[in-house]
Amino acid sequence: MPSKEKEKLFDTANMLKEKTLKSSDTNFRVVVTGKGGVGKTTTSAVLSHLFAKDGYNVLAVDEDPQMNLPYALGVDKDRAKNIVPLSQNLDYIEEKTGARPGTSWGLFLNLTPDISDVVDKFGIKAKDNINILVMGTVVQAATGCLCPENALLDAVMKYIALRKKEIIIMDTQAGVEHFGRALAKGFKHCVVVTDYTFNAMDVAKHTANLAKQIGIPNIYLLVNRVRSQKDIDKARMYIKDEDTVFKGVFFSPYSEEMLDIEPLVTPLIEKEIEYIGTIKKLKEDIEKNNNLLEKK
Ligand SMILES: Nc1ncnc2c1ncn2[C@@H]1O[C@H](COP(=O)(O)OP(=O)(O)OP(=O)(O)O)[C@@H](O)[C@H]1O
Ligand SMILES: [Mg+2]
Repeated sequence: MPSKEKEKLFDTANMLKEKTLKSSDTNFRVVVTGKGGVGKTTTSAVLSHLFAKDGYNVLAVDEDPQMNLPYALGVDKDRAKNIVPLSQNLDYIEEKTGARPGTSWGLFLNLTPDISDVVDKFGIKAKDNINILVMGTVVQAATGCLCPENALLDAVMKYIALRKKEIIIMDTQAGVEHFGRALAKGFKHCVVVTDYTFNAMDVAKHTANLAKQIGIPNIYLLVNRVRSQKDIDKARMYIKDEDTVFKGVFFSPYSEEMLDIEPLVTPLIEKEIEYIGTIKKLKEDIEKNNNLLEKK
């Protein structure tokens, strides 16, 4: 395609994207990120439950092809096993983008597919008002290519219109920063989960800076699995210079109860344990900051 035409195509796509974002009543989107194994899925699931309990309709998005989120949210094991991630629903991708993954798609890729039916078609109902959407990632993610799967996932994240009391909470896969970043563009909140080790804190700081660079206004640090004041002091020492990046810093304790029932988190929600208390505070902070944003 001549470069002028290509430019025009991108301009049109961008214009449509902006229009769609503006037509939505609210833009309450939270991405949960961090190093491998620190507690991203657990945090995403607990936040989903807490918002749902508070009357929100929650769309819990699993960006991790390992698909842990449905298990954490109590989806029946047989049902969870049979979930096909959106990025592998070839017929749907072809219907929406005009191109079938793995084939030559040339000029015909529709960059702004209408995805208004995506939750109805592929959302998995979990407890209360929670719907789960499993995205799955694609092989070419690292290059950020414009292949049909990416175009569809990108459209899904950006064009889903949210109304009042609706929220998207996206659990991410560790180590695919490039694609994760593309998907999280336009998100208003980023929860960076870490533990108090040097490596995890280093990844957390890096991730927080990436989130800032793509314009996410509210970034929170959740230091998970702390066992003592010593752990908290250690974590604080690592973020001494980063205080301004984070809107809030939270410390959630190591929880034996959680390990007893993992991968499920649902039964924890009603318990008066310190871990849940901390995530409740995080939830309230996110909500408060979101109300401030929407008043502007
Ligand atoms: N506060 C906590 N206390 C005790 N165990 C915890 C706590 N938070 C998470 N865990 C446990 O740690 C393990 C990893 O948590 P989780 O799966 O949420 O991490 P993750 O960041 O999503 O991992 P991955 O990068 O593999 O997706 C799970 O077994 C979970 O139950
Ligand atoms: Mg996970």
